[in-house]
Amino acid sequence: MGKQKKSEIARIAISTGGGDAPGLNAVIKAAVVAADNRGWEVFGIRDGFNGIMNPGAYPEGGAIRLTRRSVQGIAHLGGTIIGTTNRGNPIRFPVPQPDGTVKEVDRSDELVAGLARLNIDALISIGGDGSLEIAHVLARKGVKIVGVPKTIDNDLEKTVATFGFDTAVSFATECIDRLHSTAEAHQRVMVVEVMGRYAGWIALHAGVSATADVILIPEIPYDLGKVREKIEQRERGGHRFSIVVVAEGAQVKGGERSVVEREAGKMERLGGAGDFVAAEIHRLTGKETRVVVLGHLLRGGTPTTFDRLIALRFGAAAVRALEEGKSGVMVALNPPTVEYVPLAQATNRMKAVPLDCDTILTARDLGISFGD
Ligand code: F6P
Repeated sequence: MGKQKKSEIARIAISTGGGDAPGLNAVIKAAVVAADNRGWEVFGIRDGFNGIMNPGAYPEGGAIRLTRRSVQGIAHLGGTIIGTTNRGNPIRFPVPQPDGTVKEVDRSDELVAGLARLNIDALISIGGDGSLEIAHVLARKGVKIVGVPKTIDNDLEKTVATFGFDTAVSFATECIDRLHSTAEAHQRVMVVEVMGRYAGWIALHAGVSATADVILIPEIPYDLGKVREKIEQRERGGHRFSIVVVAEGAQVKGGERSVVEREAGKMERLGGAGDFVAAEIHRLTGKETRVVVLGHLLRGGTPTTFDRLIALRFGAAAVRALEEGKSGVMVALNPPTVEYVPLAQATNRMKAVPLDCDTILTARDLGISFGD
């Protein structure tokens, strides 16, 4: 495809923020090539917005030129060639105070000024709820910006899917499949903890696909007595092993989420939900239990075809949006098309698993327990 007519945009920047997800490089590739086709220059901001907020930390520049050549052969690679971070959110920047406390400060004006210094006409911000919220603030301050939804957690409203989720679910399903034989051979309860933050999408989709026996998700606080009942019912039926999938954000009825780190300016870090469930199952049933935490393995690897394709479509759609003069919007999958939704709507609230959704009903029909 030859160069198209130049619009009023000459220079754009791309940033990837939050936890990485397979497909980020595919978005970058599509956006860079589509922009280059329009005669635009593209810069990649290093590590979320750090390259702008703290350019001194990057001897080679906080924003690097991205060319067709620099994005060759990257669409199938996990990670992001420009780096990312889920720390130091510029609209809630952590500033240590003399009394030892940490105050969150809005530094978005510095970000706007930094973009202007680099003569950036428009920005493509790829990220989850945090990055899209930053994008929304920048849009309100007059920055031309289009958001691209990314997260393995699938917890973003207004898009049927985010890239990264399908890859994470596929890998988790394969891992759970593999655990069946060892669980059965040793007559154990295998507890598998998966990421997903405050939503149970990964646990639900992988757990149902791999026919787990129990799935514990944040949307349904669980009762350990019910988990025990399910395991003992299986024992009576001659199945002396069980597979329990636990979302990292799951919580026991009347209890709290398992958190390993909570600090101002940092996203709360979840962990330990699987260990807790395994210890309780052992205490209640006397059965030997083992825990597998899939954790960051779910964020790695080659994006599945589904994720790669929507990532490429999102990247190209973001450039088309800027060309059409759109701003303050997020590209969103609404099959069969990619559409644009206002950032205000996209960042309104988290997309939790609806308790009456077909996948939950299917799980219940298959006899899978949610511990309720
Ligand atoms: O939001 C993506 C995610 O992978 C969550 O599922 C998880 O809770 C979190 O990021 C982990 O973040 P970190 O990389 O800081 O451990």
